[in-house]
Amino acid sequence: MKATEGFARHRRLRSSDSMRALVRETHLHTNDLIYPLFVIEGENIKNEVPSMPGVYQVSLDLLLGEVKEIDQLGIKALMLFGVPKDKDEQGTGAFTDQGIVQEATRLIKKALPSMLVLADTCLCEYTSHGHCGVIHNHDVDNDASLELLAKTAVSQAEAGADIIAPSNMMDGFVTVIRSALDEAGYKNIPIMSYAVKYSSAFYGPFRDAADSTPQFGDRKTYQMDPANRLEAMREAQSDVEEGADFLIVKPALSYLDIVRDVKNNFDVPVVAYNVSGEYSMVKAAAMNGWINEEELVMEKLLSMKRAGADLIITYFAKDVAKWLNK
Ligand code: PBG
Repeated sequence: MKATEGFARHRRLRSSDSMRALVRETHLHTNDLIYPLFVIEGENIKNEVPSMPGVYQVSLDLLLGEVKEIDQLGIKALMLFGVPKDKDEQGTGAFTDQGIVQEATRLIKKALPSMLVLADTCLCEYTSHGHCGVIHNHDVDNDASLELLAKTAVSQAEAGADIIAPSNMMDGFVTVIRSALDEAGYKNIPIMSYAVKYSSAFYGPFRDAADSTPQFGDRKTYQMDPANRLEAMREAQSDVEEGADFLIVKPALSYLDIVRDVKNNFDVPVVAYNVSGEYSMVKAAAMNGWINEEELVMEKLLSMKRAGADLIITYFAKDVAKWLNK
C-alpha cells in the first residue's frame, strides 16, 4: 500500500464488480430480515394501506397465503400487529386468548412451525383512546399498564409466539414481562425490546395501518425525544440489565448514529426498525419515477447494517428477498 507516487490509489480496489465484491465490508442477507404483518379481524379482507402501497391488512382466512409467500422467499421471521374489531379502555383485545394476534400465531405456527413469529406487545391497537397503556387522570399510568402488558406477553407466548417484542415504552416493561414469562413456564422465550423508541413523525402511516392514532395528546411522555443521544444509552442499559435479549432502535434511518452507539456499547443483537414513514417516502418517490427504488432500498438497508444493525424489521423485506435471490 506504500504510496511511491506520493498519494494512495484507492481506485485499485474498485476496478470491477468482482474486485468490489472481494473487498465488500457489509452484506445484506435474507436472514437479516423481519417482515411486519397486519392481521385484521373479519373475513376475506386484504386491504391495501393507502399510505403504504404494497402493505396489506390481512384477515385470518387469507393469512397463510401471505405467510407461505414470505417463507418461500427465504424470510425466517415475521412480526405480527393486530387490528381488532372492538376496542376498549383497557385494550382487552391485546391479552384475550381469542385475540387476533393469538389466533394468527396459532395458525402460522401450526402450518409453518419453522417460521419465527414475533409478537408486538403493546396496547395502542386495542385501546379506544389509542395510547400504549391505560389512562388515569389524562395520563398513561405506567405501573397499571405494566400488569396488562405482562398478561399480553404471556398470552402471546401461550399462543406459540417465538419472540416477545414489547413496543410500549413503559418503564420496567422488560422486568415485568421477563418475570411473568418465567413464572408461566416460558423461560426460553426471548424478549426483543423496543429499548430505544423515539417519538417520531415517521410512524404516521403505521397508525393508519394499525388504526392506532392517539385520540388525544401524543406519545411524548413515554416515547423518547429525538434530540437525545445519552438517554438512548440509559434506555438500552436498563433493558439489558432487566433481561432484554435483543435491542431495537426505532426509527432507523434518521437514527443510525444511535444504532452505532448501541452496537458499540452492548453485546446483544441490535435491531433497526425501518419504520412505516421511511417506507412510504421511498414508495411515493418511486411511484413518481423520481428514484430507482431497488437501488435506493438496498443502499438504505445496507447503511443500517453498516451502522451496526444485526437485523432489520422492514416492510421492504419481501422485495429485498426477491432482489437478493435474483
Ligand atoms: C406500537 C407500535 C408503533 C410502531 C410499532 N409498534 C406505533 C407507535 O408507536 O405509534 C410503528 C412502526 C412503524 O411506523 O412502522 N406502539
